[in-house]
Amino acid sequence: MTAPLTIAELKKLAKRRVPKMFFEYADSGSWTESTYIANEADFKKIQLRQRVLVDMSNRSLETRMVGQTVSMPVALAPTGLTGMQHADGEMLAARAAEEFGIPFTLSTMSICSIEDVASVTKKPFWFQLYVMKDRDFVIDLINRAKAAKCSALVLTADLQILGQRHNDLRNGLTAPPKLIPKHMWQVAMRPRWCLDMMRTKRRSFGNVIGHAKNVTSLASLAGWTHEQFDPKLSWSDVGWIKEHWGGPLIIKGILDVEDAKAAVNTGADAIIVSNHGGRQLDGAPSSISMLPKIVDAVGDKIEVHVDGGIRSGQDVLKAVALGAKGTFIGRPFLYGLGAMGKEGVTRALEIIRNELDLSMALCGKRDIKSVDREIIAEV
Ligand SMILES: Cc1cc2nc3c(=O)[nH]c(=O)nc-3n(C[C@H](O)[C@H](O)[C@H](O)COP(=O)(O)O)c2cc1C
Repeated sequence: MTAPLTIAELKKLAKRRVPKMFFEYADSGSWTESTYIANEADFKKIQLRQRVLVDMSNRSLETRMVGQTVSMPVALAPTGLTGMQHADGEMLAARAAEEFGIPFTLSTMSICSIEDVASVTKKPFWFQLYVMKDRDFVIDLINRAKAAKCSALVLTADLQILGQRHNDLRNGLTAPPKLIPKHMWQVAMRPRWCLDMMRTKRRSFGNVIGHAKNVTSLASLAGWTHEQFDPKLSWSDVGWIKEHWGGPLIIKGILDVEDAKAAVNTGADAIIVSNHGGRQLDGAPSSISMLPKIVDAVGDKIEVHVDGGIRSGQDVLKAVALGAKGTFIGRPFLYGLGAMGKEGVTRALEIIRNELDLSMALCGKRDIKSVDREIIAEV
C-alpha cells in the first residue's frame, strides 16, 4: 500500500481503525453542520494566482508564532479526548509535532496529562485552558502548565456552554465515555485499537482526575464535567488569567470584529479566528471568510491566527495570504493519529508541508514571510 497522499486518505483510514463513536466525535459539527461544512467549502472558493518565470529556488516556510520559531506556520490545535483516537494520542502527537518543529497544543480535556506530555517531549508545548467554575482548579492547571514549561497559553473563549452534536448523542458518547454494550461492539470491531488501548493506563481525563476537588474516579468525573464549564466567564476574567500565567497568551474562538477589538484591549499576544471547527454555533460564518475582516480591523495590533477547515497546505497558504501569521489544524492530525498513530501525525504534517511548499512556489514566492494578498486571484 502506498503511503496516504492526502488528508482525505488519512481520514478514510482512520474511519477503518477508530471505533465509530470516537471517529464521529472528531468528524462532526453541531446541529446541521452548516458551519463545519462551510469551513472547508469556503477555502475551496479561494483561488490562487499562478505566476511563472520567477526564481523559485531556495524556499523557506520557517516563520514565527507568538515569537517562537516554527518550521511552517501550522500548530496542532487543542482537541479533547485525543487519547481515544489512539492510545496515548496526545503524547504521540506532541512528539510528532516536536520532531517537525511546530507547536503542539494540549487540551484541558485531554486523556494524557500535562505531566505525561512533558515526560516525552524536550521542547515546550502549548496548553489550552478551559475556565471552570472551580477557580482553584484553574489556577492549579495554570501552575502545572508553568511547571511543565509550556511556552504559550491558549484560552478558549467559545465554549462556555457546549454546542450540540447529534452524532455524539446518537452514539451515546459521554464525558468520560461509558462502556455500554453498543460501545463494546464498536470497540470490538477495532482489534488493533483495543490492543493498544489495553497496553496503556491512560483512558480518562488525565488533567482532571486526582486534581479537581472530589474527582477521584470516573464516576465522580462525569458529574464534574457536566457542571464545571463556567457560563459566566467574561472579558473581565482574561486579566487575572493573563496575570497568573505571565507568558504569551492566545485567545481562541474569535469570529467577530468587535470581539477581536475586545481581545486587543486585554493585552493578549494573539487571537485565533475560530468557530471551534463548526462544533459550537451552527450557522456562524466560516473562519476563513471572517479572517480578512478581522485582520483589517486588528492585524496591526495583535497577531492573528486562524483554524477551521484547513485540509491541505494550499489552505494554509490561503490563510497566510489573507493575513494569518499562523494556522492550527484539528481534524487533519486526528485523522493521521487514528490512521497510523505518531507516524500518521507526521504523515499529515508532511502532506501539508509539501502542498504548502509547492503551492507557494507556483504562486511565485520563495519565503512564507513574504506571502500576502497579492497571491489571491480576483474572482
Ligand atoms: C475532536 C475535537 C475536539 C476538540 N476539542 C477541543 C478542546 O478541547 N479545546 C479547544 O479549545 N478546542 C477543541 N476543538 C477545536 C479545535 O481546537 C479547532 O478549533 C478545530 O478542530 C479546528 O478545525 P479543524 O478540525 O477543521 O481543523 C476540538 C475539535 C475537535 C475536532
